[in-house]
Amino acid sequence: MSDLPTVLVIDDSPAVASALELLLSLHELRAVSVASPEEGLALIEREPVDLVIQDMNFTSDTTSGEEGRALFREIRQRRPDLPVVLLTAWTCLESAVELVKAGAADYLAKPWDDRRLVATVRNLVELGRARRELHELHEGEQRRREELMRRFDLRGMVVADPATERLVALACQVARSDVSVLITGPNGAGKERIAEIVQANSAVASGPFVTLDCGALPSELVEAELFGADQGAYTGATRAREGKFEAADGGTLFLDEIGNLSPAAQMKLLRVLETGRFQRLGSNREQRVQVRVISATNAELPVLIREGRFREDLYYRINVVELRVPALCERPRDILPLAEAFLPEGKRLGADAKAALRRHRWPGNVRELRNVMRRAGLLAAGEEIRADDLALEGGDEVARADAATRVGEVVRAGEAARPGSTARAGEPEGELDRASVEQALLRAGGVVSQAAVELGLSRQALYRRMERLGIGRP
Ligand SMILES: Nc1ncnc2c1ncn2[C@@H]1O[C@H](COP(=O)(O)OP(=O)(O)OP(=O)(O)O)[C@@H](O)[C@H]1O
Ligand SMILES: [Mg+2]
Repeated sequence: MSDLPTVLVIDDSPAVASALELLLSLHELRAVSVASPEEGLALIEREPVDLVIQDMNFTSDTTSGEEGRALFREIRQRRPDLPVVLLTAWTCLESAVELVKAGAADYLAKPWDDRRLVATVRNLVELGRARRELHELHEGEQRRREELMRRFDLRGMVVADPATERLVALACQVARSDVSVLITGPNGAGKERIAEIVQANSAVASGPFVTLDCGALPSELVEAELFGADQGAYTGATRAREGKFEAADGGTLFLDEIGNLSPAAQMKLLRVLETGRFQRLGSNREQRVQVRVISATNAELPVLIREGRFREDLYYRINVVELRVPALCERPRDILPLAEAFLPEGKRLGADAKAALRRHRWPGNVRELRNVMRRAGLLAAGEEIRADDLALEGGDEVARADAATRVGEVVRAGEAARPGSTARAGEPEGELDRASVEQALLRAGGVVSQAAVELGLSRQALYRRMERLGIGRP
């Protein structure tokens, strides 16, 4: 019974009130009626009401509708979302229409049509419920997010989408324990940010935070970086050096792009993870460390395992908990808050720009968004950033085609001097890749990291591709 939606009827005519009560009760709606505006307002304060049907005149000698207008305003003030249906005589239609413009839900002329009245009430009640549920949902989310921010250090990370919130909550949860964490996800999605959150909320937060990008160096150097080397351990090792494991003792070591580790380095890493012991290259003195390892990769390690390129035992060692960072397009509610966060000072987003940001697929994820916002900040003439300033999609393609013509010449000119590369460039796919890489590099003025963003690749992935294609580092 109490689950039925409640309709409050405010009408001074007992005949109208009882007719409506009967009609509504026949359609699974609970009706409560009162005869005066004062009683109506008091009841709204007291009871949950889903909808109001109100008369426009209450004292028998008035027909101006003034009382109805005043009542409506009072209801609005108390309950801005409560739907109000006006019941009015034909002579009063004008003021009813005026109130609908001011936010009343609808009006019905007396004598009303039963079917239409019930349908109107039903629709409005449904709409109101849906709205309220959505509102409560958002409030719940908001509260959870605030709680998360209060309890943990989120390192300034923008958390708006529920998917991001789940990820961050899990990251904070596992941070306290000492388990090894593997962070996966596409380029530029925020893996490093998540690693920082795990570190900042861990028991060793005050210890060192050391990072090593396993993809940026040739494999011999990675081992020296990880474990250190004694003087003369390898060509060029002119003096002894401390490795990252030593530097991270008592703290956290973040191994980025771990999928790129050589088999030899994987084996040594496994050993230090299992025993806490290792040796510098060229030394046989064992060292012991206490290090929390966080790894990250945008590769599918299970695939690398199947291909024999990554050790399965190491995988299980580093992957006690996996934190999967979704691509930006899988958490659309982050897009605008992130854009706002990256907005240069004194600028704001126009409505068309917001729509364009929501539409874009973001292959380069958060990093691409950040760069788009920076560029737009420079391009926008006024305070407002317009869709054109973002240069997404359509506009971008024109620019690309334009650049392609220019770059084509540069590439052809360069190729004559590199006979080895012509053969590879003959493959249709290689050719395509090479062209877009060269174009991106040219547009980025040779800044590899910037070109990588544009291509939706990590810097390391771009370096690897350049190497494969025989494109020299600028
Ligand atoms: N939710 C976020 N809020 C604010 N900034 C973010 C967020 N996620 C990512 N960023 C920023 O976006 C950029 C890219 O993020 P990050 O370097 O963590 O990505 P990644 O997944 O490690 O990329 P890659 O695979 O290329 O190494 C960084 O500047 C980071 O600070
Ligand atoms: Mg990274």
